[in-house]
Amino acid sequence: MTRPLAELDDARPALLGSSLNDLLGRWLPRQRWYADSGCRITDISVAAATALTPECFHLLVRVNVAGEQDVNYYQLILGAAVDPPPRLWKHALGQVDGPSGGTLVVYDAVHDHRVAILLLDRLRQGGATGTLRFESLPRASVPTGLAPRVLDVEQTNTSIVYGDRLILKLFRRVQRGVNPDLEVTARLARWGHTSVPEPTAWFFMTEPFLGTLGMVQPYLAGATDGWELALHSASTQGDFIKQAWGLGRTTGELHAALAQVFPTRSPAGHHPARLAEEMMCRLKRTADAVPALRPHVPAIQGIFADAAATHSDLSLQRIHGDLHLGQVLWADEGWHVVDFEGEPSQPLAERRADRSPIRDIVGMLRSFDYAAHMGPTPRPEWADQCRTAFCSGYSGAGGFEPTGAPELLRAYEADRAVYEVLYEATHRPDWMTVPLKAVARLADSR
Ligand SMILES: Nc1ncnc2c1ncn2[C@@H]1O[C@H](COP(=O)(O)OP(=O)(O)O)[C@@H](O)[C@H]1O
Ligand SMILES: [Mg+2]
Repeated sequence: MTRPLAELDDARPALLGSSLNDLLGRWLPRQRWYADSGCRITDISVAAATALTPECFHLLVRVNVAGEQDVNYYQLILGAAVDPPPRLWKHALGQVDGPSGGTLVVYDAVHDHRVAILLLDRLRQGGATGTLRFESLPRASVPTGLAPRVLDVEQTNTSIVYGDRLILKLFRRVQRGVNPDLEVTARLARWGHTSVPEPTAWFFMTEPFLGTLGMVQPYLAGATDGWELALHSASTQGDFIKQAWGLGRTTGELHAALAQVFPTRSPAGHHPARLAEEMMCRLKRTADAVPALRPHVPAIQGIFADAAATHSDLSLQRIHGDLHLGQVLWADEGWHVVDFEGEPSQPLAERRADRSPIRDIVGMLRSFDYAAHMGPTPRPEWADQCRTAFCSGYSGAGGFEPTGAPELLRAYEADRAVYEVLYEATHRPDWMTVPLKAVARLADSR
C-alpha cells in the first residue's frame, strides 16, 4: 500500500536530504536531457521545492560540474512512497531513508499518471502553487479526462501527451527568463501564423529566478516527423521534391512572420567580414581537436574569405535556431514547425539573439544531406534535388533568395558542417564522415 509522505511525519527533510543528492548524482547523468554528461559533478543542491501532493515534489535542482563556472538548473518532479505502483518502479532513482525509520522509493513522477493529470488540472485552473505560477489563454479550453502518456522519442526535454489532444512540454534544463519556445510560438500564433502549434497554457517559477517550466500546445495527432519521411524517401528510391519545396515555403513564411512579430536589425556592425572571422575561429578550434579536418582547412578558409568579401544587406532577425528535419511535422497536408528553443547547449541570450535566416536554411540543407547518407547506399543526388526544391520554395515565400547569395550560403553551410564534425567526433565518431564529406564537397564547389 502506498503511504503518503504526510503520514511519515514530515518527510520533506528526508526527500531533500543528502541521500537524495547521492541518488541524483547517479541518476541525472544517465538522463537523455542531462546537459553535462562526461563532466564530474562537484555539487548538487535543491534550489527550490514545491509540494504538489503529500508524496510528490516539484524540484529545481542546481548542478555544478568540474571545470565549468556556470551552474545548470534542472526541473524534476519526484515522487517518494514506501511502495509505489509497480509501473513506476522502472522510473525509480533509488531509495532514501524515511524520516521515521523506513525507506522511501524515489521515482520520476513525470511518469505517474496521477501527477500528469494534476499538472494539467493546475494549468487549466491557473494560479499559484508555492513558487510555481500557472497561466492559460483566456479563451483556452483544456479538456478534462484525457489519458496521459509520456512521449517516447529522442528528445532534449520531456513531453506528456494527453489523449492525443494536447502535449505538455516540460523544459528539463531551466534558464533565467522566458523560454524562446514559448516566447516565439505564442507571438507567432497571436499574430495569426499557422505553421506552429499555439501554446494555450504554460507555467513558470518565481524563485530563485523567473524561468519558464512548461507549455501546453495542441497535439498534432497522426503527424509524421520530417526526418522519418525523408529517411523513408531516401532509402526507397523515392523523391522528396514536393515535400522539400513545401518545407522551403514554410521556412520562408516562418521567417517572414518572425520578421513581423519581432524587431529586425540591419546587418551594420555584423558585416560578413566579422562573421567570417568568427567562422575562421571555430574552424581553427575544431581542426586543433579533430585531425581529420586539417587537410580541408585551407579550402574552407577560402570559402570564408569569399564570404567576407561580399556585401549583404540581409537583416538579422529572430530565427528558429535549430532547424532540421526532426523539428518539422507533416500533418493535415502541411508542414508544422516545433521546438523554438534554439541550440539547447547555448546560453539563453545567445539563443534569443537576432541571426541571419541563412542559419536556418543551412540547418535544413545539412539535414537533407544527413538523411541522404543514412541508408546503405548514399544518395547525394537525392539531397541535391531537395536542396534545389527547398531553395525554390523558400524564395517563393517572397523574401530572400537563398541561391542569390551563394558565397554566404556556402560559408554558413561550411561553418555548420565544421560544427557537425566536432559534434560527431565527440559523440558519434562513426558518423563523422557525413559532415567531412560535405566539407570536401563544399570546398570542391568553390
Ligand atoms: N504539437 C505536437 N504535435 C505532435 N507531436 C509533437 C508536437 N510537438 C512536439 N511533438 C513531437 O515531440 C518531439 C519532441 O518535441 P520538441 O518540441 O522537439 O522537444 P525537444 O525540445 O525535447 O526536442 C517532436 O520531434 C515531435 O515528434
Ligand atoms: Mg526537438
